[in-house]
Amino acid sequence: MAHTPQAKYRKDYQAPSFTISDLELTFNLFDKETTVTAVSTVKQLSDSTSLVLDGESMSLKEVQINGEVWSDYQLTDTGLTINAMPGDCELTIVTQVNPEENSALEGLYKSGGAFCTQCEAEGFRRITYYLDRPDVLAKFTTTVIADKNEYPYLLSNGNRVEEGEAESGRHWVKWQDPHPKPAYLFALVAGDFDVLRDDYVTKSGRKVDLEIFVDKGNLDRANHAMVSLINSMKWDEERFNLEYDLDIYMIVAVDFFNMGAMENKGLNVFNSKYVLANDQTATDTDYLGIEAVIGHEYFHNWTGNRVTCRDWFQLSLKEGLTVFRDQEFSSDLGSRAVNRINNVRIIRGPQFAEDASPMSHPIRPDKVIEMNNFYTLTVYEKGSEVIRMMHTLLGEKAFQQGMTLYFERHDGTAATCEDFVSAMEDASGVDLKQFRLWYSQSGTPKVTVSSEYNQDEKTYSLTIMQLTSPTLDQKEKQPLHIPFDIELYDQLGHVIPLQCNGLKVGNVLNVTQEQETFVFENVTSKPVPSLLREFSAPVILEYDYSDDELIFLMSHAQNEFARWDAGQMLLAKYIKSNVANVQNGGAVNIEATVVDAFRGVLLSDKLEPAFIAEVLSLPSHNEVSGWYEAVDVDAIADVLKQIKVTLAKELSDELSAIYYSLNQSEYTIEHSAIGQRALRNVCLSYLAHTDGGETLVSAQYENSNNMTDTIAAMNCANMAKLKCRESLMEDYSNKWSHDGLVMDKWFTLQGTNPSSDALNIIKKTMDHSAFSIKNPNRTRSLIGAFLNGNPVQFHDKSGEGYRFAGEIIRELNSSNPQVASRLIDPLLKYRKYDAERQALIKEQLESLKSLDNLAKDLYEKVNKALES
Ligand code: TRP
Ligand code: ZN
Repeated sequence: MAHTPQAKYRKDYQAPSFTISDLELTFNLFDKETTVTAVSTVKQLSDSTSLVLDGESMSLKEVQINGEVWSDYQLTDTGLTINAMPGDCELTIVTQVNPEENSALEGLYKSGGAFCTQCEAEGFRRITYYLDRPDVLAKFTTTVIADKNEYPYLLSNGNRVEEGEAESGRHWVKWQDPHPKPAYLFALVAGDFDVLRDDYVTKSGRKVDLEIFVDKGNLDRANHAMVSLINSMKWDEERFNLEYDLDIYMIVAVDFFNMGAMENKGLNVFNSKYVLANDQTATDTDYLGIEAVIGHEYFHNWTGNRVTCRDWFQLSLKEGLTVFRDQEFSSDLGSRAVNRINNVRIIRGPQFAEDASPMSHPIRPDKVIEMNNFYTLTVYEKGSEVIRMMHTLLGEKAFQQGMTLYFERHDGTAATCEDFVSAMEDASGVDLKQFRLWYSQSGTPKVTVSSEYNQDEKTYSLTIMQLTSPTLDQKEKQPLHIPFDIELYDQLGHVIPLQCNGLKVGNVLNVTQEQETFVFENVTSKPVPSLLREFSAPVILEYDYSDDELIFLMSHAQNEFARWDAGQMLLAKYIKSNVANVQNGGAVNIEATVVDAFRGVLLSDKLEPAFIAEVLSLPSHNEVSGWYEAVDVDAIADVLKQIKVTLAKELSDELSAIYYSLNQSEYTIEHSAIGQRALRNVCLSYLAHTDGGETLVSAQYENSNNMTDTIAAMNCANMAKLKCRESLMEDYSNKWSHDGLVMDKWFTLQGTNPSSDALNIIKKTMDHSAFSIKNPNRTRSLIGAFLNGNPVQFHDKSGEGYRFAGEIIRELNSSNPQVASRLIDPLLKYRKYDAERQALIKEQLESLKSLDNLAKDLYEKVNKALES
C-alpha cells in the first residue's frame, strides 16, 4: 500500500468552513480528454482561510479566484487546498478527466457509446475539485457540449433552459436545477437513445413530462418501467401525500453500472437490468424488481433529495426509509404476504449473515474507511426494518404525522437519523428513547421465549429474554426496545383476547428488558402462541414449538405470514435434526405428519397460489448455514436435497395435478397470473426430482411462450442435474448470445451448476462472446453466482474455488474496486468453515493484503476479516 487508508468516525463530524451556493459546470465531452470547468460561488462560514476541496483521479488545469489566476494552493492525492482565500468569492477550477479509461464506473465514464456519471457516494470528486460532502447544497447549472451526431441527447438535472450549435459538428445544451443539492445527486448523460415518452398530471394539476432513454432498438422493453413510474408517482401522492416537484422526470438505462440505480435529481440513471423487460426477455421476478427499483428511486425524490443526509454515516436516513417506502409500494400493489415473506428471507438470510461477519455494523455506522462498503443489507434492509418497527409502534396515522413534521422541519436541508426519530416522537408522543439503540447497536438480538400455563389461575405467561452477542465492531450490548407482536389461539383456532392486570392489551408487546414476563389472564385452556407475528422485529426467535403446534399454526394462524413462518420453523426443525443425522452417518427422515401438513397447504383452495409457492420453498443453503457457528457445507446440501426429493416423491400426485391445472395459454403480468406461474414452477422444481422429471422439464422449455417458464425449466434441469440440461443451455445460448442482459440468466445457471466440473466450465464460459469481466452485471451473474450460490463447488476441499475467487478479485481490484469489494464477502466468513478450508481462504486474503495497489474498499474488508 502506498498510504495506509484513513478511517473516518461519525463522532468527528464538523460543519463545513465554507459552502457553495451556486455551481456552474461546463463539460466539453471527448472520450479521452474531457474538460470540466466549474465556477463556484463560495461562501465563507468560519474564519478559516484555507479551502480544502476533495478530488482524485484527474488532472488540474487551472485555478482562478474572482477571475484572476490563483497559484497559492497545494495538490494532494485526495484533494486541493486553496490558501489565502479572500472570503466569499467566485472560484473557477478547470480539470481534465478520461471517461474512456474509467473502468471503476465512478465519476464520468463511458457505458457502451454513451457518457454517463455516477456520483454517489464520493464520485463527484473524480469530476472536479469540490466540497464533495452531502451537507453542502448548491444550485447547479450545467452546460454539456459534445458531437451532435454521436451524442444527440445531452442531459443533466433540472430543466433544459438553452441550447445551440457549436463549431466542428458539435452542439450544446444548458440545464438548470432550481433545487439546491449535494454533489452526489449530480448527473450528466450524453448519447444516442430511443426515448419512450409519457406524462403525468400531479394531484395539484401540474403536468410532468416523463422520458425513459434506452439503447437504440430497445423501445419495446421500456413499457413496464414507464407503467411502474406512473404507479409510483400516484402511490406517493395517495399514501404519503407527496407530489413531484419538477416539470420533467428522466430515466436513462445503461449497461455498465455498479449498483441497481441512482436517484439523481430529475435524471435517474439505471442499471438496464432494472428498466428493460418484455415477456420474451424478462421473468416475473425481473418485472417485480423493476417495479420496486423504479419506485425506490422515485421515492428518493423526497426521502433523499428534498431532505438529504448531513453526512454519510446517516445513509440509512434516506436508504432505510426509502426501502421501507418501496416495500410498502410493492405490498399495496401486489400481495402483502408474499412481499413480507421475501423481505424477511433477506433479513434472516444475508442480513443476519452480515451481522455475524467481520463487517458487522449498526444501521448508522460509527467508522468507515470506504463509504462504498456501507451500501449494505444492514443499512438498507435492516434500516427498513427499523423504520417498520416505528411504524408498528406508532400506527399508520401517527407515522404519517411524523413524516409531515419531518418534512416541515427539514425540507431543503441535510438531516440526521436523530432528526427523523425526533420528528416521529414529537408528532406521536410515543417515547422512542430506548428505541434509538437500534441505530447505534450492531448484531442480531436473540429472543428466547418460554411459556407456562396455569390451569387453576387460568393464566398464561410468556417469559421473554433478549441477548445480543458481541460483534467484531462492538463488544458491549444493551437490551433493545423490541415490538413483539403475538396472538394466542385456543384448541379450535379461535383468537384468545389478550388481557393483563385486568386490562385489554394490544398484540404488540413492548419488550424492553433483558428478561421480562407477561402474564395473560382469562385464558381458559392451554393456548398455542403465535410469536413475532409479521416479523415485528429483526431478531432471531427461539421457542420450543412441538411439531403439532407448528402444524396447527400452519393451518390456523390468522395471518398468512404466520402460517408461512410456522411452516419454515417446522422445516428448520427437520433440517437441523437431519444435518445431525447425516453427520453421524444416519439417513434423512421426515415424519409423515409433516409431509401431510405440506400436502394440506398444497391442496388448499382458500390460499393464494403465490402464497402456497412460498410455503413450499425450502430455505436456501445460505440461510441454513447462518444457523450454525461451524458450517458443514456438504451435510447441509445433502439434507436440503433429500428433503426436496422426499417431499417430491410423497406429494408427486398432488404436485403433478396442480402442475397441469395451472397451465396458462397467455402470458400476462397480473399478480394472479404471476402467482400461478410461481406455484406451477415450484411444483416443477419438485417433479424434476421424480421419474417423469426429464420429460416434464424439456416439454416446458419447448412449449414455453415466456421467459419465466423458460428459465424455470432450465433452473430445474440445472438443480436436478437432468440430462436435458446441456441441450437447453445450448439452445438458449444460440438464441440470445447477442444480448448480455438476457445471457445473464444463462451465466447464473453456469455459476450455480451443481456438477463437479462446474469450475472448469465457468473458466471456459469467461471466453463466451457475451461475457466481459468489465461489465458488473456479467461478473455478478457468472462469478457472483458461483461464490454465493454454489456452496458445494465453491467450497470444494481442493481450494480451487477459493483460488479462482482470489484471482478474479485481484484483477477487479485494479479495474473496478467496488465490484471486487462486493464479490469478496463470502471469503470474509472463513471462520465458519473447517480448519483446512479456513487456511485455504486465509491464503487468498493474505495474498490480497500484500498487493501494493490494494484499493481502500478491499483494504477495509480484508483487514477486518484477518483481525477477526
Ligand atoms: N442511492 C442508490 C440507491 O440506493 C445507490 C447507489 C447507486 C450507489 N449507485 C451507487 C451507491 C454507486 C454507491 C455507489 O438507490
Ligand atoms: Zn436508495
